[in-house]
Amino acid sequence: MNMPVVPTDIEKPSINPNAEIVLRKRYLRKGPDGNPVEDVQGMFWRVASAIASEEVKYAKSSFDVDRLAREFYSLMTSFRFLPNSPTLMNAGTELGQLAACFVLPVGDSMEDIFASVRDAALIHKSGGGTGFSFSRLRREGARVGSTGGVASGPVSFMKIFNTATEQVKQGGTRRGANMGILRVDHPDILKFISCKEREGELNNFNISVALTEKFMQAVEADEEYSLIAPQNGQEDGRLRAREVFALLVRKAWESGDPGIVFLDRINRDNPTPKQGEIESTNPCGEQPLLPYEACNLGSINLATIYDPNSDDGIDWDEFKRITHLAVRFLDNVIDASRYPLDKITETVGRNRKIGLGLMGWADLLFQLRVPYNSQEALILGEKVMKFLQAESKAASKILAEERGAFAAYDESTYADKKVGPYRNATTTTIAPTGTLSIIAGCSSGIEPLFALSFTRNVMDGEKLVEANPYFEQALRETESYSKALMEDVAKKGSIAHMELLPDDIRRVFVTAHDVEPTYHLKMQAAFQKFTDNAVSKTVNLPSSASEEDIREIYWMAYEMGCKGVTVYRDGCKASQVLCTGEAE
Ligand code: CDP
Repeated sequence: MNMPVVPTDIEKPSINPNAEIVLRKRYLRKGPDGNPVEDVQGMFWRVASAIASEEVKYAKSSFDVDRLAREFYSLMTSFRFLPNSPTLMNAGTELGQLAACFVLPVGDSMEDIFASVRDAALIHKSGGGTGFSFSRLRREGARVGSTGGVASGPVSFMKIFNTATEQVKQGGTRRGANMGILRVDHPDILKFISCKEREGELNNFNISVALTEKFMQAVEADEEYSLIAPQNGQEDGRLRAREVFALLVRKAWESGDPGIVFLDRINRDNPTPKQGEIESTNPCGEQPLLPYEACNLGSINLATIYDPNSDDGIDWDEFKRITHLAVRFLDNVIDASRYPLDKITETVGRNRKIGLGLMGWADLLFQLRVPYNSQEALILGEKVMKFLQAESKAASKILAEERGAFAAYDESTYADKKVGPYRNATTTTIAPTGTLSIIAGCSSGIEPLFALSFTRNVMDGEKLVEANPYFEQALRETESYSKALMEDVAKKGSIAHMELLPDDIRRVFVTAHDVEPTYHLKMQAAFQKFTDNAVSKTVNLPSSASEEDIREIYWMAYEMGCKGVTVYRDGCKASQVLCTGEAE
């Protein structure tokens, strides 16, 4: 592999120690002896130059490749924007697979099931995550014509996907992630809802039940609904909707799984319905995709657009500049990416979906001194997302003028509505930014901080300790800072109970558990309103929360227009990714 030469006149990135550890371990290119053959600066230059070089094939590009590479480099090394992990890992390398999100179909035959297992393994190997709907598989015990035997059903087959995933580390660096979805009217739905009830079972899957409008109406009216055999569309049993809903809630209370997705709503927003129905999302739920579709994501760090000298504390011009550059970056990523299957290359080429989102939202609120759980934050969240949506669409329009609209534009809903043309069938997605936020040193996605200071368990049992810089600064400014206090905060994560601290600090520096569950959901809904795809968000609940609390959250999510919802009751799983000192 030829590594690009880093120009001598560009600045070295300044990177925090936690980011350095993560990048060294998983992102830097390694030679045959396992040692890195690039440093952090080399990595960012490799990515910037590979993505900028895609520009040459477009005659009308207004950018010179070297100038654009430098702009991309500074966009990333100032941590204003980062593309999803596979792009950082693989751009400019032989593997060259740059997307984080894939959805694969699972057909109702041995050939189709095992083809899908193989395709998923190839995707995991390349660093991507996969989502599947298992709704087309006939139920457990149904007759299999060719052998006279009986079918194993969706849950049994999911175990095969799970085991295959276990054995393939993504890009040799991280284990694969999967989303498993089953329609609520599938005859095996009860089995599916309980399939993760034992800890460790299907550990490489997130699972979600796809709820339909019909089902939600049956819950509301307390009626039965029909289960449908996928192989022939005939009714195959009936269940009382409220009982199924109650089981869903109970299992989510016990373990956080399953989540729910509102399938009809996802399809209502499908920009290319002529290509078929969307039946699944990527592993973390933020990206609904058609079968064989992939999407690359990227996130703007809102902490970097804070401007104390502007009227409202936000540098909107800078936000616009970053957005336009990021859309160009992500559109180039599509061309630069080499997908593991021809069918994926075809589907991606038709729709050219990208998912630009945000991280550092909690940090921006800290800088603005606006509490996360306030009406002001909800209004600002909508405003920020509306701006990102509008500017990303404007940027996609400019690209369409330069390079042409996405191939399926004429049959898309945009053409019906006479908006566009756009270069990309979707432009916005709010990703979890699990690793990106560590690299950028900011709060993740649109989540509140989990703790003002906490221990993060990363792969191989390594632990990283982090304290929020805005919190520390505020304590110093009010002369409340002391080492003993910081140690105390690290134990609990939150300062809600610390009555001696100034009121305005306690009001502003809230953590996930200080935020009422309904505010978590309202924030999700505020961002969803202006997001093409979906919003990754966890509604955190205290361990004392009841099943009724979860039922209310699910119902509110439905009423507020969310595309899905994931709840997590503190302490309900033994190993948590994020924990405060006390929870360990
Ligand atoms: O921060 P990073 O780019 O690593 O990823 P993220 O925003 O936390 O997750 C975005 C998407 O990447 C997920 O929804 C998955 O599709 C994929 N992913 C994965 O395949 N495997 C992981 N271990 C983490 C994320």
